[in-house]
Amino acid sequence: MKILIIGSGGREHALGWKIKQSPLVNKIYFAPGNPGTKLIGENIPIDVIDINKLVKFAKDKKIDLTVVGPETPLVLGITDIFKKEKLKIFGPSKKASQIEGSKTFSKELMKKYKIPTAEYFAFNNFGEATKYLQHAKYPRVIKADGLSLGKGVAICKNRKEAEKFLSLLMVDKIFDGSGEKIIIEECLYGQEISFMVITDGKDFLSFLPSQDHKRLIENNQGPNTGGMGAYAPVPFLDKKLIKQIEKEIVTPTIKAMAKEGCLYQGILYPGLILTREGPKVLEYNCRFGDPETQPLMMQLESDLVEIFLAQQKNKLKNKKLVFKKGFSVSVVLTSAGYPSEYKKGDQIFGLDKIKDEEVQVFHAGTKEVDKKIITNGGRVLSVNASEKTLEETIKKVYQQIGKKAVHFKGMQYRKDIGKNGLIFGDKYD
Ligand code: AMP
Ligand code: GLY
Repeated sequence: MKILIIGSGGREHALGWKIKQSPLVNKIYFAPGNPGTKLIGENIPIDVIDINKLVKFAKDKKIDLTVVGPETPLVLGITDIFKKEKLKIFGPSKKASQIEGSKTFSKELMKKYKIPTAEYFAFNNFGEATKYLQHAKYPRVIKADGLSLGKGVAICKNRKEAEKFLSLLMVDKIFDGSGEKIIIEECLYGQEISFMVITDGKDFLSFLPSQDHKRLIENNQGPNTGGMGAYAPVPFLDKKLIKQIEKEIVTPTIKAMAKEGCLYQGILYPGLILTREGPKVLEYNCRFGDPETQPLMMQLESDLVEIFLAQQKNKLKNKKLVFKKGFSVSVVLTSAGYPSEYKKGDQIFGLDKIKDEEVQVFHAGTKEVDKKIITNGGRVLSVNASEKTLEETIKKVYQQIGKKAVHFKGMQYRKDIGKNGLIFGDKYD
């Protein structure tokens, strides 16, 4: 089989690394890929949103299955266009991707089908939203409706902060069209969890629960980022809680989407918060998480391509996702200055020092110049390790980072990835 993977981050490198292990696959293309994916397949210089070129490429090369990494091409309708051309593609349709592409769509869906989430009001008028803020209880969370790369959300401690952010969204329109509609919601408290399932629109298989670390600095301080690291599984998410999430959130969401005429086929990834009243949905994503996919691929034992093919035939019912025992931790290394303006062009050292089978480095913002790998983005690499216990895994992953191991000038990373899991125990069964 020939597979095309769309995207260029650590998530796509990890997916490709796993897909390459399938005996069903003999060639992988990445559009556009990165210097890491080049080692396992062929990089094609086509942008993720250049859908016409991607269709032409898939036809010319007779690609058997295309796997979409990022949300933007999904929200733009890549799946519908590929399917119209009789090309097999993994990822939800344009209509179904609204679950991530529009917060008002997903909030209305949750309200209508009683899926647990924060109480909210939606506004498309600046005056009305301002009026609401005068009497609202604080803190309040304000969200832009559309895609804004995780930056269209602010937790506002008081009215002044709220009015300022509202004005940025609705008057200054800092996210273009995505601020025309907004959501104002209650603030929820608890551990944040990433829960991904693969679904054919009816049945689904759950991946291990994982936890991202969105803030730049240890102990959840500093600005929000694309994700500074992740680990899986999450020790405090026991079987009972997983059953509850599947029953109260995943199953009703898949059913609701089918009922609304948006049959959901692909990865459904609700971002959850474990509140005192139980798990609630913070947001939905229509794709694999980044960096959560990295530890999930490290732990997945099943042949991912077989699972994708069963999903394409609506035959997930008799399949199982089998995971290795133990844990995986992924630490993201970023350029100096990230998530604000960052430096590029520093050489990365130590990549050749990794010999352990249970350690993998997945590329994201890297570039190859004169056979050297240099930094070329905010999130540069993720370093991943697996071990039997979470404590051993954390130790192992951090041994791979530093002056005597993987490093580059100005490298930033969090030193507490996975620590949260340890506080709650080191067992997962
Ligand atoms: P979202 O893009 O909706 O996932 O929001 C980004 C981040 O903002 C989440 O990962 C949470 O950390 C935070 N957040 C969003 N909504 C809420 C809420 N209702 N209460 C508390 N934190 C929230
Ligand atoms: N890890 C957060 C995301 O993929 O959206």
